[in-house]
Amino acid sequence: MLQGKNIVLGICGSIAAYKSASFVRLLIKSGANVQVVMTPDATNFITPLTLSTLSKKPVLVDYFIPETGEWNNHVELSLWADLFIIAPASANTLAKMANGLCDNLLLAVYLSAKCMVYFAPAMDLDMWKHDATQDNISKLQSFGNIMIPPGNGELASGLHGEGRMAEPEEMIAFLLADIKKKLPLADHKILVTAGPTYEAIDPVRFIGNYSSGKMGFAIADELARLGADVTLIAGPSAQKSKQHTVKRIDVTSAAEMLDACLQHFDESKACIMSAAVADYTPAVVAEQKIKKQDANFSLDLKKTTDILGVLGTRKKAGQVLVGFALETNNEEANAIGKLQRKNLDFIVLNSLNDEGAGFKKDTNKITIIDSKLQKTAYQLKSKDEVAHDICQKVIELIKG
Ligand code: CTP
Repeated sequence: MLQGKNIVLGICGSIAAYKSASFVRLLIKSGANVQVVMTPDATNFITPLTLSTLSKKPVLVDYFIPETGEWNNHVELSLWADLFIIAPASANTLAKMANGLCDNLLLAVYLSAKCMVYFAPAMDLDMWKHDATQDNISKLQSFGNIMIPPGNGELASGLHGEGRMAEPEEMIAFLLADIKKKLPLADHKILVTAGPTYEAIDPVRFIGNYSSGKMGFAIADELARLGADVTLIAGPSAQKSKQHTVKRIDVTSAAEMLDACLQHFDESKACIMSAAVADYTPAVVAEQKIKKQDANFSLDLKKTTDILGVLGTRKKAGQVLVGFALETNNEEANAIGKLQRKNLDFIVLNSLNDEGAGFKKDTNKITIIDSKLQKTAYQLKSKDEVAHDICQKVIELIKG
């Protein structure tokens, strides 16, 4: 969840600043881009060199750097930031933040920040308990800032009590839990299918199709990014999930995909069926390799179960069911037929007549048709962007 996030880390003058080195390392390890901003006092507790080495960026302390004539633009910095974390946050800085004072770069970044602001207090127990500090904290929380609560234990003064800054690992866990909680699909289980199915003819041959699984994997990744608990049922595919939270279940045939879907559908808030499921499967699978004989050869095929159709009959109020239609002619009429027959909330129509759409491509051009037959046609986009559009529609339906 911190992957690729731009984080401004504000460090104040407190002995807890020694923990900042580990905290920066953990943020960098999580894939975040970290820009450290220190108050002048903080540089007495930990050197900017340590933090710039770990964050791989020069540390900023002053508005103006006389040696280079450069100006550290606090507005640009706050616009760059996805998150602003002040850790350690001293009693002095918290008081200034609560009252809009702005006498250093860190405070200027705070006052211009539009992103989420987290602060991790660090101070001695009596400073922490003081009414003035508690008032300042309440005021900061009423502004929408989030406190990473301090711990209880031995303090630098030798006293025991509340006021210790949370440990770096605890701060990371707090951030992840808080970010996840705010995501639009937090706590929703969502089922996605992707890729082709292979229907065995004999031990060495199968009937398959050209689906790469790219679209379904992109949807699963996007849903996970939006906080969903995603189960991805994948037919044979070389794709890999970018989001490590996606739970992948590998299947081969339409019958195996049906079983896996039935196991997970009831507990799912939504199901997006993007797999290219075989419509027919050999009536009998030969136990031995079939030898060539006559000039012509025919296979007896039987229909597979329409998984989406079955899920449509099981769908409960509040569940969202999404299907795909890949068409070459009478596109909209065919898609609407599938939408209604399978009791879907919306269908994603791809036309093979659209350049850049279809199997194996990195792009797709879709039209979404919902159960009220409202149509939204999208431009040709990357499959990641198309996944975003589809997931936004899912969110719209889940949120009602
Ligand atoms: N689907 C399914 N089970 C099947 C076949 C398809 O769940 N046995 C799902 C696909 O994942 C997709 C949608 O149904 O979401 C596609 O509808 P379908 O009517 O099967 O379309 P086509 O396979 O393209 O078949 P047709 O020949 O009717 O166009």
